[in-house]
Amino acid sequence: MKEQEIKEWLLAVEHPAKGDKNIVELGMVENIEVSEDSIIVTLAFAKHRDPLAEYLIGSAKAAIIRNTPIGTKVEVKTIIKDEAPKKKPGLDLGFEELANVKHIIGIASGKGGVGKSTVSVNLATALARLGYKVGLADADVYGPSVPKMTATEAEMPDAIVNGEQEVIMPLEKYGVKWMSIGYFAKPEQALIWRGPMACNALKQMILQVRWGELDFLLIDMPPGTGDIHISLVHDIPMEGAVIVSTPQDVALADVEKGVNMFRNESVNKPIFGLVENMAWFTPAEHPDEKYYIFGQGGGQRMADKYGIPLLGQIPIVQSIREGGDNGQPAALSTRPDGLAFLGLAEKLAEILK
Ligand SMILES: Nc1ncnc2c1ncn2[C@@H]1O[C@H](COP(=O)(O)OP(=O)(O)OP(=O)(O)O)[C@@H](O)[C@H]1O
Ligand SMILES: [Mg+2]
Repeated sequence: MKEQEIKEWLLAVEHPAKGDKNIVELGMVENIEVSEDSIIVTLAFAKHRDPLAEYLIGSAKAAIIRNTPIGTKVEVKTIIKDEAPKKKPGLDLGFEELANVKHIIGIASGKGGVGKSTVSVNLATALARLGYKVGLADADVYGPSVPKMTATEAEMPDAIVNGEQEVIMPLEKYGVKWMSIGYFAKPEQALIWRGPMACNALKQMILQVRWGELDFLLIDMPPGTGDIHISLVHDIPMEGAVIVSTPQDVALADVEKGVNMFRNESVNKPIFGLVENMAWFTPAEHPDEKYYIFGQGGGQRMADKYGIPLLGQIPIVQSIREGGDNGQPAALSTRPDGLAFLGLAEKLAEILK
């Protein structure tokens, strides 16, 4: 008896789950040992618990016994050869799409409603105005703002298939690449997402997007410093963060929480600076006046306290809110508020140069 002969007998053993291909052609016959009165065949299985393993072992044994003289010892052994782990779409994502992104910056705050999204959208627009290649990922899965703030709510990003995985194409407007869960889910849907689902959706909005070549990818973080934030900061290769606050919040522990989110031992990412939003109020009809309605110098004091630069001060003006509401970011304008965002962009670009 030769090995070749035994292989031929095994051609009769078909794998019912593999389109009835036989175990030889499936490459499952790992080894055949032949001695005078015994035959030992080793079959390789790709899974630890192939439900058909017993059936195939029995069939292989029978195929050999049928052809060999009585008294020949026949043994069929098995080994497990693990398949390469399959990528689960949307969950086990790598960083391939971020390969050509130079700086990934989280825009965070300890507290909600301080203007994080307003600053993110305008900072992205201003960086693009300065000639940089910019993307913005809206990571606020519970309350996405980017579609409205850029008047792109009616649009739907394309998806392209990349091997086993789908990749989403960001929308482009004002020279910026935008991505938000708001393009895919209605607000009331997003609100009911539980932790892990929200985390996964969020990672997809960053890792499964064809960003291409970018100088800056800004990530508008959701408000707060909960589990989602910690996991986001852990899972995305962010270079560091920019913190947004209002002068009113200087004394609040929330800001400290925001700072600590990046500075804690396990994350340890730099904070490139602080943006003081709503630093003063300027009425539309008196553009030269400044009213420090939340107090003066709070941003600088906070920056000093944490040892980070004050990147910029953004006034509270009607045109910034209107720009957010009608999808025309204030940073597109040559008004003082537009220039404030340009100044902010210049400062950040200089720090990250
Ligand atoms: N400098 C500003 N001048 C005028 N209005 C502003 C300014 N900054 C923010 N706003 C307005 O304040 C509101 C809250 O801003 P925004 O949504 O950017 O805050 P946020 O920190 O992202 O909030 P959330 O925590 O809900 O994500 C918006 O209506 C926005 O237009
Ligand atoms: Mg927001």
